[in-house]
Amino acid sequence: METSEIRRRFLQYFEDRGHTVVPSAPLPSPDPNLLFNVAGMAQFVPYFVGQQTPPYPRATSVQKCVRTLDIEEVGKTTRHGTFFQMNGNFSFGDYFKEKAIEYAWELVTKPQNEGGYGFDESVLYASVYYDDDEAIALWKRIAGLPDDRIVRLGMKDNFWSMGIPGPCGPCSEILIDRGPEFGADRDWEAGDRYLEFWNLVFMQNIRGEGGGKEGYEILGELPKKNIDTGLGLERVAYLLQGVDNMYEIDEIYPVIERASELSGRKYGVEHVDDVRFRVVADHVRSALMLIGDGVTPGNEQGGYVLRRLLRRAIRSMRLLGYEDPSLVELLPTSLEQMKKSYPELEADFGRISQVAYAEEEAFRRTLTAGTTIFDVAVRDTKASGAHQLEGSKAFQLHDTYGFPIDLTIEMAAEQGLNVDTEGFRSLMKEQRERAKADARAKKAGHADTSGYRELREKGVTEFTGYQELSTDSQVRGLLREGAVAPFAEQGETVEVVLEKTPFYAESGGQIADEGLILGDGLRLKVLDVQRPVKGLIVHKAEILEGVLRPGENVHAAVDHEWRVSACQAHSGTHVVHAALRQVLGPNALQSGSYNKPGYLRLDFAWSSALDPSTRSEIEEVANLAVRKDLPVSAQYMTLPEAREWGALALFGETYDEQVRVVEIGGPWSRELCGGTHVKHSSQVGALTVTGESSVGAGVRRIEAFVGLEALHYLGRERALVRLLSENLKTRPEELPAKVADLAERLRAAEKELERVRAAQVLEAAGELAKNPKDVFGVQYVGHRAPDGVNGGDLRKLALDIRGRMANDKPAVIAVLSVNDGKPGVVIALNDLAREWRLKAGDLVRVAAEKLGGRGGGKDDVAQGGGTDPAGADEALAAVEHTVGHLVTG
Ligand code: SER
Repeated sequence: METSEIRRRFLQYFEDRGHTVVPSAPLPSPDPNLLFNVAGMAQFVPYFVGQQTPPYPRATSVQKCVRTLDIEEVGKTTRHGTFFQMNGNFSFGDYFKEKAIEYAWELVTKPQNEGGYGFDESVLYASVYYDDDEAIALWKRIAGLPDDRIVRLGMKDNFWSMGIPGPCGPCSEILIDRGPEFGADRDWEAGDRYLEFWNLVFMQNIRGEGGGKEGYEILGELPKKNIDTGLGLERVAYLLQGVDNMYEIDEIYPVIERASELSGRKYGVEHVDDVRFRVVADHVRSALMLIGDGVTPGNEQGGYVLRRLLRRAIRSMRLLGYEDPSLVELLPTSLEQMKKSYPELEADFGRISQVAYAEEEAFRRTLTAGTTIFDVAVRDTKASGAHQLEGSKAFQLHDTYGFPIDLTIEMAAEQGLNVDTEGFRSLMKEQRERAKADARAKKAGHADTSGYRELREKGVTEFTGYQELSTDSQVRGLLREGAVAPFAEQGETVEVVLEKTPFYAESGGQIADEGLILGDGLRLKVLDVQRPVKGLIVHKAEILEGVLRPGENVHAAVDHEWRVSACQAHSGTHVVHAALRQVLGPNALQSGSYNKPGYLRLDFAWSSALDPSTRSEIEEVANLAVRKDLPVSAQYMTLPEAREWGALALFGETYDEQVRVVEIGGPWSRELCGGTHVKHSSQVGALTVTGESSVGAGVRRIEAFVGLEALHYLGRERALVRLLSENLKTRPEELPAKVADLAERLRAAEKELERVRAAQVLEAAGELAKNPKDVFGVQYVGHRAPDGVNGGDLRKLALDIRGRMANDKPAVIAVLSVNDGKPGVVIALNDLAREWRLKAGDLVRVAAEKLGGRGGGKDDVAQGGGTDPAGADEALAAVEHTVGHLVTG
């Protein structure tokens, strides 16, 4: 059964039983303590803990998950993968243990031709939390399992949590006995023979801080008893597809096959190669899914994980002997499989592949740069007589050039060296500890949200700012340093929550509104507005006058000018985005944005710089849209409706059931957006693009000024042109020609100067040729030319002197000059000198040695140089000495 079919059946089964099908949340986790979602229940946490009322009593989903804690283990065994999918059914205070067991057992054992998975009941087992007699009774009654096929396990195996404070509970798993070839009878620990594949969590407790699977405290009960189940999709797939492990399922194996075709090596022959194949297949798939959800390679957090995954995959291909760019071959193979369940990947593949291929290109450059450093390290190591590359070198290669240690080890082995891996690992450990300490510090700085929650419980803050700029309201409460406070006085800066507010809280790239909150004898200046928990708008405000108390009637007024400019900037951002896509094509999708009055910037998926004419065209299209005075409107609809409508959503965002779609000029620009906008595009005013740059692999940033700021910007440019035109005494329209002319003349003058200098140098040739020194019968000219003569001229000089000298005696000419602080030397010999067994190449090496460098060349002419000008005279003397030595010896 194909993986996509297993997935489809799951959703169908639970939908038929009253569950709402909920799409997977994006991979990046909204929880600051986690990089990615690691379980199917992640998006439902607020429902479990009672923070939000669930919109449905039952749900089902197939959640995309990424776990990378044990990334190093991937492929070494077949049990680990980084990306996986979790099929789940969830009950929020609705059904509990009995139904959960009933559903799971039915779906697992129902024959395949009736829509089930058709597992053979006789090899199935159940594990329960050790004191859960209720679950045992249910397994006996519902599944008819005898005592010896039910096993009681402890907290480590049968108590589940996300590994961080939050909901948790005892669980019960369905296990399959894969037979004696996988392990000993009743050995539950090893995990290979009795493989658990469906975890039913009876989610009823809340846990606190603490490590491991057992080292935390249970703080109490959740408001309701819930169900969270997780059926590992990849596990079911390999069980039902009759293959040995997850790497061999339909969604993954084709990448291994492709990698094998490319590299010419076979899977299943050598363990080391198998590990590499598995790393490639797993990581390519994970990267595809992560980039699909808007993650881009970077040096921090999720971006770094993605970078590591890509680099490990690329490097593994190289270790398999495939040196060419490999993602271009492998990513499409992975797409072919994954699009069956995730058709959006195909639509988005232009952007996804651009990001991945750009990262590969960058890594290839890294490898090239790192290889030079590596070569130097090898040379130094050998020169010192050692056989081991220092740990610090391996660490530097790893840390600065992204060289994985096993690459360093392998390359060193080719040079007959080993690597001090101990030293390397201890440096890595130090670094990891530093990173951990940083993470801890960061976490501690994370605001405690309980104060906000307390105020949020009193209701949602109504946002009136789409319709009006000032609103009569009431103070619901205030917080001082995160804690609810009864009052605050003049001079204090506190956080204020109102019943309703026209102030826009920073989000979707738009910064917060500015303005005042006024009351009886009360005056507050709003400094920032945020939404720290869903549904709650919090104003950070300074009390300019009066005492602030909950219950007070106030008038909240957004600064009018500010908001007008903010709307211009935000609508301008949409206009630029639409213009980008019109000019560059639909792949140029926004990946982030920021706008404030007068200014906007937008990051978009694109891997090369825009040429000036493309930039102008984008600006032109944007300004034409402004001039057309297109209507701007916002409407609410469901997410599927919005997608149907072609509205663009940001990757990695989680959206509510009802979304707001802002459109400019109908379908020309449709985006999911909560921001404030102008009513007609002409109100954006002027729009001028000021820059375009790279902000990472496959991501470009475009910046623009809008409205009055655009005019100010143009004014500044005009002043600059005026200044130039005054200084150069030229009319502005003639400036480009004038500057080009000046540059041309400067170039010509420099050339002339060079010619004159060379002529001067060469002029010396005649004089020098006339007065050679006699070195044991050899005519020898050793000449230090003036500083600044380049290699080419030096060579000309040497040959010119040689041409003027008598041919009936051997002649050696050595000329030297220090150019830009670096000495260069040329040696020329006539035929007779060579018959006397002199060689220009040998002599130039003698000179170069004194100059701290090297040289070489043919027997008649050779050239060299170095870094140490102080050795110049010595070098010439050494050549003379060597000539004498050679002809007499
Ligand atoms: N949350 C549980 C798990 O991830 C069941 O879905 O195993």
